[in-house]
Parts: sequence; structure tokens; C-alpha cells
Amino acid sequence: SWTTGNVIEEQVEAIREQVGDKRAICGLSGGVDSAVAAALVQKAIGSQLTCVYVDHGLMRKGETEQVEKDFVAATGVQLKVVDAEERFLKALAGVSDPEEKRKIIGREFIRVFEQAQAEIIADEGPAVEFLVQGTLYPDVVESGGGTGTANIKSHHNVGGLPEDLEFKLIEPLRKLFKDEVRMVGQELGLPEEIVQRQPFPGPGLGIRIVGEVTKERLDLLREADAIAREELTAAGLDRDIWQCPVVLLADVRSVGVQGDGRTYGHPIVLRPVSSEDAMTADWSRLPYDVLAKISTRITNEVRDVNRVVLDVTSKPPGTIEWE
Ligand code: XMP
Repeated sequence: SWTTGNVIEEQVEAIREQVGDKRAICGLSGGVDSAVAAALVQKAIGSQLTCVYVDHGLMRKGETEQVEKDFVAATGVQLKVVDAEERFLKALAGVSDPEEKRKIIGREFIRVFEQAQAEIIADEGPAVEFLVQGTLYPDVVESGGGTGTANIKSHHNVGGLPEDLEFKLIEPLRKLFKDEVRMVGQELGLPEEIVQRQPFPGPGLGIRIVGEVTKERLDLLREADAIAREELTAAGLDRDIWQCPVVLLADVRSVGVQGDGRTYGHPIVLRPVSSEDAMTADWSRLPYDVLAKISTRITNEVRDVNRVVLDVTSKPPGTIEWE
């Protein structure tokens, strides 16, 4: 019968056999899938695995620290962190078009990741033969079900593989559904915040700023997003919603009043949705008192934000993300 213990044992054995005395690389995104895949492979082959985490500066508050500290503490994994914030900001300067932003972020990500790979190979030699992917069963079905190939839908994963992939793939989660992956992660002792993390797009906060992406705007959005997440968690609503994007309308200004003065700031949009699979979604009917608390805190605590609005559009016609 299916137990997380069986799955772990089975995979650990299979990975050991597959890898032998060679070495493997795994990209960590901060998400559940790559974290659980890496933890499993780490359990199997220990220091023969090196993980790479590209910090593109578009992460939410505390997420990079979660990977750098909590994930490493829980797994003992060997981790290479690449701080690429400046590079991404530079590449994104002056760009407002959503598709262009996505392309730039995807392209830069692959470049930085490949560079890190090359450095690891330079350090560790030609024994680096394997790449770990957090492919789940629904991904396998969606992409036609090949084995051991690089056939991963790249639009959904900012770590999308380069075309000329030369690694053999290790995909320890390819028979599992999301809830099973979470159970395996829990069994492996990963922190709750990582195992229960809600979906977050690869391009990160870069596609939650309507307008140009700047460091200052990212910092504002990070604060507002952290407040919304904090209050949703405090209200015990994390499991009731699929996710709640928080969007900064940086190209829009609205008049407000604060203390004795007129303000001219930006609106923040809350986009809480319920969904089974993100293909369709409905806007979540959050309790008014929770919305009120989020609104009050964001307008009080986040500089330059003087208005909070609620997105009440289902998908379709609206997508979950604004860009
Ligand atoms: P949309 O906006 O298309 O989003 O309704 C559906 C789900 O996918 C997530 N999303 C992404 N995830 N890379 C990802 O890994 C992406 O580029 C990306 N774009 C959207 C979104 O957060 C939602 O859960």
C-alpha cells in the first residue's frame, strides 16, 4: 500500500542506483516541488548533490532566507546561492510590457543558472552527470509522458531547461500528485512554510508590478504582500484559498488623505482566489474583517500606498495573475 515511507525508501534506492558515484545538480526555486525533490536526492546521495538557488531579487519577503537557512538546516544540502538581483533589475529597467518582462526574466534565469552549473562542473569535474527536476505526475501527463528527457514545459517554470541539455534527468516525484509531494516533504522533515507554500509564479513579483520593475517598487510590494500573507495566516485562511497575489499598480496614482495632508500614491490590489488546479478560479469571499485588517495595515505601514482594492473577477475571464 501507498505510504510516504515506502515512496521515500523506493526512490532513495532507485536514485542511488541511477547515480552511482557520479554527481548531480538541482535548481531550487523556493517552491515545494524542487525542495522536496532536492531533499529526496540529498537523502539518497548526500554530498554528491549540489543545489543552486538563483536569487533574482523578485522573491517575497523572507523566501530567500527560508531556502538559505531553514532548508539547508533541515536537509544539510550543499547549496550555491547566486545573488543576481542587480543583473535582473538592470535587464528589466524601462520594461513595462508583461510578456517582455517574462521573456527577460526567463532568459536571465537560464543564463545565470547555466553559469552556476559551469562553475560547479569546473569545481567538481566531469562526474557531474545528472540534473534533478521536481516534475510531478500532472506535468508528465501534460507534456506527453516521455522519460528521462528534457521535455519540461518551460513557460511554467522559470528554471526551464535550455534546449541543448546534456544532463540525464532525475525526477523522483514523477509519479506523485501535489498533496503527496507535500506529505513526502513533511516526512523528510522540511519546514512547514516550505511544504505548505502556495503557488508562486517563477517570474515572481516582477509580474505583480503593473509598470516598470524597480528596486523601490519591489520593496513596497514585498511589504504589502508580507502583510497580506501574515493576516491570512493569522485568520487561519491559508488552506481555504489557492493563493492571493498582491499587485502594485505602479503606473496608477490615486489621491488620498492621511493626517493633515493630501497624498498622491499607488493602489494595491488583493487577488485572493479559490481553485482546484489554477485552470479556472473563483474570487474568494474573504471575511470583511480580515480584508479590513489587511487594508488598514497596508495603508498605514507601506509608504506610497494609499488605497487597497479587491479583485472580484473569476477566471475566466481574468487570469489569476495580472500579467
Ligand atoms: P494565471 O495567471 O495564468 O496563473 O491564471 C495560473 C497559475 O500559474 C501561476 N503562474 C506561473 N507559475 N511560472 C510559474 O511557475 C509562471 O510564469 C507563471 N505564471 C503564472 C499563477 O501564480 C497561478 O497559480
